[in-house]
Amino acid sequence: MKRNNFLILSLAITLAAYHPLPAQESTFDRKADSVLRLMTLEEKAGQMNQYNDDWNATGPMTAKSDMAGQIRDGRVGSILNAAGTARTRTWQEMAMQSRLRIPLLFGQDVIHGYKSTMPIPLAESCSWDMEAIERAARAGAAEASACGIHWTFAPMVDITRDPRWGRVMEGAGEDPLLGARIAYARVKGYQGDTPGAVNSLMACAKHYAAYGAAIGGRDYNSVDMSDRMLWEVYLPPFRATIDAGVGTFMTSFNDINGVPSTGNPYLLRDILKGQWGFEGFVVSDWGSVGEMINHGTVKDGYEAACSAILAGCDMDMESHDFVDYLPRLVNEGRVPVALIDDAVRRILKKKFELGLFDDPFKFCDPEREQREIYNPEHEAAALDMARKSIVLLKNENQLLPLSKELKTIAFIGPLVKAVKENKGFWDNEIAGVDSNFIVTQWEGLENKVGKTARLLYARGCDIEGQRRDGFAEAVEVAAQADVVILSIGEHRAMSGEAKSTSDISIPGVQEELLAALLETGKPVVVLINAGRPLVFNYTADHAPAILYTWWLGCQAGNAIADVLFGDYNPSAKLTMTFPLSVGQIPIYYSHFNTGRPAPDDRNRFYNSSYIDLSIYPRFEFGYGLSYTTFEYSNLQLDKKQLKTDETITVSFTVRNSGPYDGEEIVQLYLRDLVGSITRPVKELRDFRKISLKAGESMVVQFIIDKEKLSFYNNQLQWVAEPGEFGVMIGASSRDIRLKDTFVLLD
Ligand code: NOJ
Repeated sequence: MKRNNFLILSLAITLAAYHPLPAQESTFDRKADSVLRLMTLEEKAGQMNQYNDDWNATGPMTAKSDMAGQIRDGRVGSILNAAGTARTRTWQEMAMQSRLRIPLLFGQDVIHGYKSTMPIPLAESCSWDMEAIERAARAGAAEASACGIHWTFAPMVDITRDPRWGRVMEGAGEDPLLGARIAYARVKGYQGDTPGAVNSLMACAKHYAAYGAAIGGRDYNSVDMSDRMLWEVYLPPFRATIDAGVGTFMTSFNDINGVPSTGNPYLLRDILKGQWGFEGFVVSDWGSVGEMINHGTVKDGYEAACSAILAGCDMDMESHDFVDYLPRLVNEGRVPVALIDDAVRRILKKKFELGLFDDPFKFCDPEREQREIYNPEHEAAALDMARKSIVLLKNENQLLPLSKELKTIAFIGPLVKAVKENKGFWDNEIAGVDSNFIVTQWEGLENKVGKTARLLYARGCDIEGQRRDGFAEAVEVAAQADVVILSIGEHRAMSGEAKSTSDISIPGVQEELLAALLETGKPVVVLINAGRPLVFNYTADHAPAILYTWWLGCQAGNAIADVLFGDYNPSAKLTMTFPLSVGQIPIYYSHFNTGRPAPDDRNRFYNSSYIDLSIYPRFEFGYGLSYTTFEYSNLQLDKKQLKTDETITVSFTVRNSGPYDGEEIVQLYLRDLVGSITRPVKELRDFRKISLKAGESMVVQFIIDKEKLSFYNNQLQWVAEPGEFGVMIGASSRDIRLKDTFVLLD
């Protein structure tokens, strides 16, 4: 009890310290305060309560009595998963019957598009193209906001290094720098420049924090990590969302070093609202306030609500604990009302910013809804994003691009004619995506060469299961063709929330089908559709050409056909390491050197290695081919020594030395050769995506400053230590084309 009193006191002091002074208060602050003054304690707790709509669920359904009545009583501040202007209008009308007529906030998971589905976020990240990523998020925001939604639970900015974790599909991969830039672009895409613009959504950075580091890659599992690792790898993308002006944060399900994130004052009050000065509000993940009982840090809902509000969580998604217990907690002296006021003020401010007090039905215009849904501009953004997301992993003897003169093409596999599969996991069943607006892979091929070539189809086998009775037909079809395209991979429900798996190899007998097709002697191009990096050693060793096509959204078929026939030259590069075997996980490029590094795969017995397997991945971070080739040359550093207030300009030439125009993602890696603590063997510190016509050259420059040389030392200070640094220019994290060193002076 003593401890609690102390906590309350120090929280009140903290609150006083960072609540803006009256002179600096914005109009929204003043407006929020004017409403706050009128509210009863019960109404305040109601604002902090979020319920799921009656008819859809993206988490375990909970029973709540008379939601309509509770809205009218001012006991609900927000609803998730209400879709469409008609539905949201109905709920909003009820809120308008409450005493203070405070509008509801409608939230939903608009993760990769709304009705016009975009590639899954991990696929998009492989474009390394911030403008395209921002545009894709914008399109989702334009559609969803036209359907009555105010707030998306995106972007997910969790760094992840474990492809067993099903939610890798929702993030931007393993690297903090790239993750931070993508996080920034996505927030800008969703929110636009003006808060409350009618075609925008308020964004939510999730899941705070370190959710992607769940032990064993098992969703919802605990996380145990050093503070240094947290700050260096897992927090930067969250920080970037604040720089982009993100409106809200969502806590994560996991406990971290023994403290559940939803009841974690260090994460929420100290770092987020304190050190980072975040002025938006924090929503719990679904039921995660109440789940602290299962974590074993509180004994019941009353204590759970207490722990969450003290820690800095402002809104309770679907636990019902805030609405049930906060008034009592205040009345019994366990929670200062100042904390409740702070939380409610944050929520009201967002409602003001969105313009909901001026017009609660601002986002409920059925005409705009009709206009925006499947708007051709969104389809165009989806196509652009999808083409830029496809990674060319292998292309022996330049099998790709295929000629448009081919006479007969066999398109085989369980995913060729799949419709829903292209949508990926967060495909908004709630929004009700119309299958007519999904271009299947088969349709894409028909659109491209249907008039000139004979197209043959066989399913061959299922995604899962052991049935091989379709092989004979597939082989027969292949035998008639000039080229075979085989589309295999995962079912879309195999990656996503609660879709962790211990086996990430290509399911069922799909690789056996490939073997049967290769026996025909025909050239086979393999498309791998998945929500995560898979293990596919047979395919990687034997197929002459492989495109990793992820789940590409509504324009999947057209994007794949564009790449297959060279109307788009693939430019994507992997943002997660692809392991050789699940036994290598976690595997990532920016590892430490160790005291016994294994420089190659030979002398491995007294090195940090495996006795039965290489330590190298199948495909590394930053890897991806093009139909053309790029030569790197002439690395120059404008100085070999710099003082901490100086910069070094690194320049080099990249030449498109192949036969096609193309884009290349050039990567700058640095290594701090001797540090006060161990430093990774390399870290991505910058990159550029450049476009070069066949034969064209370009001088590329990177500026190295103190920031790029800094890291968190053991005292969690952000420091650049004097000494020697390695600079590496790579076409991937392993394919280092140019190197040099320089010295940072005292
Ligand atoms: C649980 C998920 O973890 C979170 O990402 C999502 O936003 C909520 N459910 C709401 O659907």
